[in-house]
Amino acid sequence: MSTTTSTPIASFAVTASATLLNRSRQSLPMGVSSGMRRVGAPQPLFFERGEGPYYFDADGHKLLDYTLAWGPLILGNSHPAVITAVTDQLARGFAFGAQHRGEIELAELVTSVVPGAERVIFSNTGSEAVQAALRLARSFTGRPLFIKFEGHYHGWFNNVLVSYRPQAGDAIEPLPTCGGQPPHEFADTRVVPWNDLPALERMLETHAGRVAAVLTEPLLANGGSCEPEPGFLQGVIELSRKHGAVSVFDEVITGFRLALGGAREYFSLQPDLSVYAKAMAAGFCVAAVAGRREIFDVLEDGRTIHAGTYNGNPVNLAAATATIRTLAQPGTFDHMHAHGRAVRQAIELAAARRGIPLVTSGSGPVFSVHFGLAERPRNYRDTLRADATRAAAFRLALLHNGIYTLPDGRWYVGAVHGPDELALAETAIEAAMAVV
Ligand SMILES: Cc1ncc(COP(=O)(O)O)c(C=O)c1O
Repeated sequence: MSTTTSTPIASFAVTASATLLNRSRQSLPMGVSSGMRRVGAPQPLFFERGEGPYYFDADGHKLLDYTLAWGPLILGNSHPAVITAVTDQLARGFAFGAQHRGEIELAELVTSVVPGAERVIFSNTGSEAVQAALRLARSFTGRPLFIKFEGHYHGWFNNVLVSYRPQAGDAIEPLPTCGGQPPHEFADTRVVPWNDLPALERMLETHAGRVAAVLTEPLLANGGSCEPEPGFLQGVIELSRKHGAVSVFDEVITGFRLALGGAREYFSLQPDLSVYAKAMAAGFCVAAVAGRREIFDVLEDGRTIHAGTYNGNPVNLAAATATIRTLAQPGTFDHMHAHGRAVRQAIELAAARRGIPLVTSGSGPVFSVHFGLAERPRNYRDTLRADATRAAAFRLALLHNGIYTLPDGRWYVGAVHGPDELALAETAIEAAMAVV
């Protein structure tokens, strides 16, 4: 699926993308559909087509993609198994607003591959599913508060978009991330630094009997792909249990990526609930909350509700089932981890050869590059010391060499990144490192 033609691209023209951005701005604020896509250097690109791990932009560039559309495209674009599943379902109906076999099939698949997942509910985006998990936890415990960690992203809703990008001088306290976040909407959110069990314990003790949930990304993918220190995630689960709170892993990034069973399988841990989206459906809109049966009883007995017109949409669910079955083929995760390790190593060696200080952090299928750091970051605050200027120059130089990466230095590796792609990446990394 993955042979390529020409890279590097000597001069990276964005004439067509610039024209489209100007037109887009007339009707779309910022000219983009998600604030995260409002990047500079050189400007938001417009894509005409995607195939496997490649994008084709409006200016005729063929770009090797290590963004996976911010994570979902774990099988690349237009994977034949997903196309077949989706087109078969399209011919049998787009939506029912009622029950169908595909829901049972996917629920059985998820509960069979995710360790400790006894029940599952479906929604459409990670943001929604996080809210569903919080509601389940609050209804189950009868408590109002939840604890999140600094630098973690759990979607764009006001109660969780809190202390996501604080600055070095900011106190560690719940801080809004953007305008339009009135304090009462995050009054029940508490924030502690990550990889710091004593801080978590203090917060749980301060609010004894009032904390419904402790919510964490198991690998801090959104804050520099920081890795959990040995015992930290286990400690989160145990402290939550000790204080009667529900432990929630936000596996929107790690789910179906670190392993088929996500962080639960990768770290051999079972929190009370986990939230999934992104890689679960290879680019289609499916999210899920899975976990202990007892917690889902609050839906069975009517203590609370979970709703949504598009929940369990048959077309999206068909994509998810095909994705998980494809990912379940032997060797898939070993392959992604090996490819990710090789790319990381290429970056580290290219930097070391030139005396450029740099570290990488994360896991094979999702990792981050930090210029200017001597040690892997432990938490979000450590990443603030990285050299953002050099990182931006590297990203731009990679683009000039045919490689498309995310603006925050995070790389996503998918199942369709093969040896050809690795060779392209290694050449581009070498060329880009030479000019930063
Ligand atoms: C860990 C995590 N949680 C939640 C979300 C929100 O998911 P969505 O963008 O599908 O609403 C994201 C999105 O990037 C995420 O990375």
